[in-house]
Amino acid sequence: MAVPESIVRRVGKLREAIERHNYRYYVLDAPTISDAEFDALFRELQELEAQYPKLATPDSPTRRVGAPPLEEFPEVKHATPMLSLNNAFADDEVVAFDRRVRELLEGREVEYAVEPKLDGLAIGLSYENGAFTQGATRGDGYTGEDVTANLRTIHAIPLRLHTPQPPGSLEVRGEVIMRKRDFARLNEHQRADGHKEFVNPRNAAAGSLRQLDSRVTAGRRLTFFAYGVGIAEGGEVPRDKHSRLLDFLEALGFPVPPERKVVRGADGLLAYYREVGRKRDKLPYEIDGVVYKVNDLRSQKELGFVSRAPRFAVAHKFPAEEAATELLDIQVQVGRTGALTPVARLKPVFVGGVTVTNATLHNEDEINRKDVRIGDTVIVRRAGDVIPEVVAVVPEKRPKGARKFAMPGKCPECGSRVERPEDEAVARCTAGLYCPAQRKQALLHFASRRAMDIEGLGDKLVEQLVDTGLVKTPADLYRLDLDAVVKLERMAEKSAANLLAAIEGSKKTTLARFVYALGIRNVGEATARDLARHFGRLDAMLEADQAALMEVTDVGPVVAASILRFFAEPHNRKVIEQLRSRGVTWDEGAPRRPAAKGPVAGKTVVLTGTLPHFTRDEAKAIIEGAGGKVTGSVSKKTDYVVAGADPGSKYDKAVELGITILDEEGFEKLINKGS
Ligand code: IVH
Repeated sequence: MAVPESIVRRVGKLREAIERHNYRYYVLDAPTISDAEFDALFRELQELEAQYPKLATPDSPTRRVGAPPLEEFPEVKHATPMLSLNNAFADDEVVAFDRRVRELLEGREVEYAVEPKLDGLAIGLSYENGAFTQGATRGDGYTGEDVTANLRTIHAIPLRLHTPQPPGSLEVRGEVIMRKRDFARLNEHQRADGHKEFVNPRNAAAGSLRQLDSRVTAGRRLTFFAYGVGIAEGGEVPRDKHSRLLDFLEALGFPVPPERKVVRGADGLLAYYREVGRKRDKLPYEIDGVVYKVNDLRSQKELGFVSRAPRFAVAHKFPAEEAATELLDIQVQVGRTGALTPVARLKPVFVGGVTVTNATLHNEDEINRKDVRIGDTVIVRRAGDVIPEVVAVVPEKRPKGARKFAMPGKCPECGSRVERPEDEAVARCTAGLYCPAQRKQALLHFASRRAMDIEGLGDKLVEQLVDTGLVKTPADLYRLDLDAVVKLERMAEKSAANLLAAIEGSKKTTLARFVYALGIRNVGEATARDLARHFGRLDAMLEADQAALMEVTDVGPVVAASILRFFAEPHNRKVIEQLRSRGVTWDEGAPRRPAAKGPVAGKTVVLTGTLPHFTRDEAKAIIEGAGGKVTGSVSKKTDYVVAGADPGSKYDKAVELGITILDEEGFEKLINKGS
């Protein structure tokens, strides 16, 4: 059956439009139509191709979704070899490179095209008369693997060159990479599906591209950057400068590294190295150095190659961010919030530019997930200023006696009970104020302005007080004497006296400040105030059970559990008693009894949006005054939602759960019913 001319034209138009939008989306990151509009174009093309199979072509955008699996990858002989680069690590090697280039060219300052060295895998892409025909991996440099079907799924690779006059033959070279964000997402999925995670984006890119089933590759979000040309025959291809060659590739629809530049002389090279080095962590993809290329293409030819690397280019590498070493032991460190962090003790290894002997293992789940055992050879990563971490085990190197690790049940610092809430990854020491590791931080918090407000008690002083053993708990502050304080470093008689006066002055406080100062997890200033108002007296608070605590405004099960845990610890009780006996006082009030009767008594109310005549605080005060409780989020336990103008998602949630929603008028009626 002949295909009507109008259909042929429509198919051509659709392909052109889809690829144009594809380019705007994947290469320029600036789409001009919605996903739905794009999908409509795509579906129309799919349907026409199904209806008229004659129209299907290998460069149709519908072919980006992957093809049936291959038995193996056919071999491809590269028309010109894909060579590698010599590396430079130190500045003087770069200076020597520049000197050699100048000597050989018998010239003065040389112009260089400089680019980031992308950490992925090298690929050559062949185009015949503008259509993508074949793509291959580097392999041994002379023969690679034909991964055309997989490359077709990468949206950043144009299936047709963006020019009406393409070269007869063009081979574009560049790097297939996976962006950091897509790598993180892929590993999340791998984890969720119980599959093995990839160690780094390069391995993920390589693993994804070397899939016999291109439908797997299609699901992996790879991308591509062009950095050179293998062969170019026919057509107008720039033959003078490398930088112009990249401009040309960019015009043909290829992404080129946005950080590329042209610089002069060794100084220019080294300045570029430092500039990119500073940006490295913030770039969306991983790079392992920068590449310097003599910009003049005739000079490149003149310089030629030695063995397998060009004399006209060099890779200036950053210090490796990952290295393998032996895991000697796993110890547990207690952080300032009581979090227990397993730390790997390592055989010293040079990584990220420094010698590393410790690396974090994050938490117990991470250790189990990565199956890390003591004695293993592990991959350690140190990127920028980030704390070094163990990212993976090298399973082939596991020795016979490798030992599993178990989280201790007692805090290694103070011997108190360790607890790990069911839905949390972090195990914590329950000792709070008593645990020396947490002591300094707890003391600083205790003394802070919004807590007990002890002026002059800062980091340096707390450090000394704790290290000399003078102060173990906040209660010890209240029995410091002048003799002891004066002996501390940089403490004159006058400043010692000032400190003691500030401590003395802090004794008279409020219950709210006192509760906040204790540093109970999840109890901030506002909650401390609510607790103080609700219970009036500290003893009432200490006696409260979970249900009693949850009657307090905004106290839910998590906060209530934190409070209970804190007060259940005998050390904490003791410190509180000592504080009281050493003179810390406040005015105790009567507990604020919920109004026994009335329609709002004992009810839970959520406020959302802006009410015409009440502020949020006023409405809250009215509800609480009537014995109700105001909470922050809507749940099945919510009785009423009071919604003003522009209500948020709480309104939707209330509708969904079928909870009574009141406007201001309804709210006033409800309140007034009781009186
Ligand atoms: S040019 C003849 N430019 O580094 C030189 N290579 O060790 C051809 N690479 O196999 C390479 N970014 O995989 C060049 N901007 C860049 C690069 C780059 C990464 C990789 C490429 C190559 C290896 C050379």
